[in-house]
This record gives sequence, structure tokens and C-alpha cells, in this order.
Amino acid sequence: MYRFTDYYRNEVTLSFDNHPFSRNPKHVWIICCYRNKWLLTKHKERGIEFPGGKVEKNETAQEAAVREVMEETGGTVKSIRYIAQYIVAGKGGKITKNVYFATIDKLMPQDTYYETEGPVQISSIPMNVKRNMQYSFIMKDDVLKYCLTFIRTDKTGD
Ligand code: GTP
Repeated sequence: MYRFTDYYRNEVTLSFDNHPFSRNPKHVWIICCYRNKWLLTKHKERGIEFPGGKVEKNETAQEAAVREVMEETGGTVKSIRYIAQYIVAGKGGKITKNVYFATIDKLMPQDTYYETEGPVQISSIPMNVKRNMQYSFIMKDDVLKYCLTFIRTDKTGD
């Protein structure tokens, strides 16, 4: 379990256990890999970030993750697995988010990418991501760092 503060000084609690805080979190975030590159999206206000969003009625969190990847990048998910869950305690209350690692096999151009400008492919995440104004605040706390380390070192995945 890790505790730290985010870009806005909200408290974040992150765990790599199996759904430690909620069985039915309302938010999802997906670290996507496409042809040996990271696949992100460019949110119109927040900037570049891995895709994600809210779970809708009548879908599971993992279904929401697959949908959000398609809506925000046009990517079709080949494989996806849960890796972590975190809570952000902000002024307006707490949100709980599942983190997934997904491999993408196709990028299908979309008519709309909703609140984003669509896919962004990068070979590596910049060292200065925390200070880089092109990147979203969601990329600027230690959730990203711990999740990337987990993906790199976890041997159970594909
Ligand atoms: P809607 O207007 O209903 O779409 O929601 P919102 O814009 O208020 O945002 P949401 O409910 O998704 O999140 C509420 C607050 O939680 C945001 O303003 C952020 O401060 C925080 N938050 C949401 N997701 C993340 C995240 O992935 N990381 C961090 N650090 N904070 C987050």
C-alpha cells in the first residue's frame, strides 16, 4: 500500500491487491501498449494522459475500460488485466479507480474522440512528466510511477 499526495495535494492511496477498497469502483484508468509504444489520449483540457473515465450503469469496470480505450483512442483491446486500485480523497469527496494494463491490436480512426483529441503514441514517458505542461495532472502523481514499475516487474502477466 502506498500513500502520497497528487498534483492538487489531494491524498492518494494505491494498492496492488485485488480490489482492496471497492468491488465496484466508479472510475477506470488504462495503461495501454500498442506496437511497443505507449498509447495515450489528449484530453482537451487536461492534456496528454492514459485513457480512462467513469463506469456507466449496466457495465462492469473492465467493460468500461475497454469502452474508454475505444472512445478516447480508437484502440481495440487485445488483452486487458487489472493491476491496481487507488483512492483519491479530494475536497469534493473520494473517488475509487481501477488501473488496468491493456495491449491494443488495432487503431480504428473515430469520428469523435469525445472530450479528447484522440490517440497519442509515445516511445517513452518523458522524465519531466510532472513539470511538463503538455501532460495531464493524472500523469503527475506516483500512481503512474508505481504502476509502470509493477508492469515492468510483474511476471504473471502476458
Ligand atoms: P464530472 O464533472 O462529473 O465528470 O466529474 P469531475 O470532473 O468532478 O471529476 P471526477 O468525478 O472524475 O473526479 C473528481 C475529482 O477527483 C477530480 O476533480 C480530481 O481532483 C480527482 N481525480 C479524479 N481522477 C483522478 C486521478 O486519476 N488522479 C488524481 N490524482 N485525481 C483524480
